[in-house]
This record gives sequence, C-alpha cells and structure tokens, in this order.
Amino acid sequence: MKIVIDDVNKTLEVADKERKSKLDLYGPEAYSLIAELWMKTSWNQKYPYTFTWMGRPIIQHPEDMLRLQEVIYHLKPDVIVETGVAHGGSLIFYASLMKFMGYGEKVIGVDVEIRRSNREAIESHELSSIITLIEGDSVSSETLACVSAEIPPGSKVLVILDSDHSYAHVMKELIAYAPLVSLNSYIVSTDGIMREVADAPRGKPGWVHDNPANAAEDFSKNNPQFVIEAPAWKFNESNLSKNLTAWPSAWLKRVYK
Ligand SMILES: C[S@@+](CC[C@H](N)C(=O)[O-])C[C@H]1O[C@@H](n2cnc3c(N)ncnc32)[C@H](O)[C@@H]1O
Repeated sequence: MKIVIDDVNKTLEVADKERKSKLDLYGPEAYSLIAELWMKTSWNQKYPYTFTWMGRPIIQHPEDMLRLQEVIYHLKPDVIVETGVAHGGSLIFYASLMKFMGYGEKVIGVDVEIRRSNREAIESHELSSIITLIEGDSVSSETLACVSAEIPPGSKVLVILDSDHSYAHVMKELIAYAPLVSLNSYIVSTDGIMREVADAPRGKPGWVHDNPANAAEDFSKNNPQFVIEAPAWKFNESNLSKNLTAWPSAWLKRVYK
C-alpha cells in the first residue's frame, strides 16, 4: 500500500491493488489508515518497551492496558492468570487494580525463566502479597498442576497469554488454560500484531501465519464455547469504534460452559 500525506492540503492519498483514493486527512478513513500504520511503526520502534507500572517495566502498548483495565474493573475477577512475566509490570498492573477496587484474590504469573532480579523486585514490591509466581514452561503438566492448585474452587478467572507467541505454543496454551476460564470471562491471546508487522523491519515473513491471532481464530472455530469478541467500549463520545491495538483477534470470551 502506498500512502501520501499532504499536511498542507490536508489530504491523504492511498493506493493499493484495489483502490486509489484521495481522502480528507482528518476524516475517519484516513484516521484508520494512519492508526494502523502507527501501530506497526510504534511496534517496530519498540514503543511498548518504554513504560513502567508502579516501578516495574510493562511491555505493552498502553492502549491495550487501558482496555484491559476496563474489563478487569467491570468483570471483577477473583483470580487473574498470566503466562509471560518478564519484569513483572503487567502482574503489578493487575494487582494494583485489585487493590484499588478492593476486589480480587490473586494474580498468578507463569514464566519459563524468572530472572533473579525480576523475582526479587516483584517479591519485594508493595503489591507482592497478591502475586504468586510459578516458574516453568506454561504448558507443562507440572506447571498446569501448580496453577490449578493456586485457584480456589468457584473463582472467577481471567487468563492472559503473553509468553511464547508462536502459533503452536499459543494453541497449546489455549487448550490447556481455556478450561480455567469462567463464564463471561476471557482468555486473551495477546500480540497478534505479529501478523500485521510480518513485513516490518523487525518482523519475520513467517509471522503472517505463525502468530497468536491465527491461533485464537482457529481455537474459536473448534471450541464454540469461546467467541472472538473484543469487549465493548464503556464510554464513547467519538465516532470511532475500533481498538487501537497490538492484540487483534485476542479476546476469546467464554459464552457457555
Ligand atoms: C513478552 S514477555 C512478557 C511481558 C509481560 N507480560 C509484560 O506485559 O510486561 C514474554 C515472557 O514469556 C516468557 N516465556 C517464553 N516462553 C515461555 C514458555 N514456554 N512458558 C512460560 N513462559 C515463557 C519469557 O521468558 C518472557 O519473560
């Protein structure tokens, strides 16, 4: 796709195989094209690697964290399970919401390797009492047994998958963790942006197929109790309706048990 932005005449020209049009630079179509391109280029510039939450690095686009916050506030999960801990910022983010809401029992973080400095920082954090760390391959039977043992019976559970983002691994995680997810809650298959950035300088051509979004879409086809459904916005005084997100096709909602 070729995009030409003319900030003097306030137009955006777009040309690809299907179309050639000149758009109002400040109109909704131009906004969509610029937003999609911004997601790609910000990913390529490692923009998500620039934030901390209450002192810990959190490797996410803030847009996704704000949307996730809306879900956590309204869903009020008892337990949040996340695969992929890294520096712990996302675990601290969920724990802080639980603490502020005065609702929620624990956040369980699973990682194949929790570096000593990260573990020490998470375990000495003021929110550490809400967080349980489990070290191990997220799809090993030992790890799954540890995760299950940490979830009190009857808990409302939300699961976020943010570990190895290959199609094969995410599919294994979806199969292993989906049974933990409560009715009307979600299992979130993050970072499907890999599919969109396959042609970016830091991307890989194989990501067109090998990505978490494809895994989530295929999983939902074979598991109709889960539908791909991005949570509805709770507030919208704009004419927009689409998330600016690194998580396309991520939100798998459990619609029946
Ligand atoms: C993208 S980082 C997680 C970022 C974190 N959730 C955040 O928002 O800041 C991915 C993590 O997944 C972990 N990981 C990779 N393969 C894994 C596996 N098979 N099982 C569990 N964790 C894995 C890596 O060690 C790494 O820490």
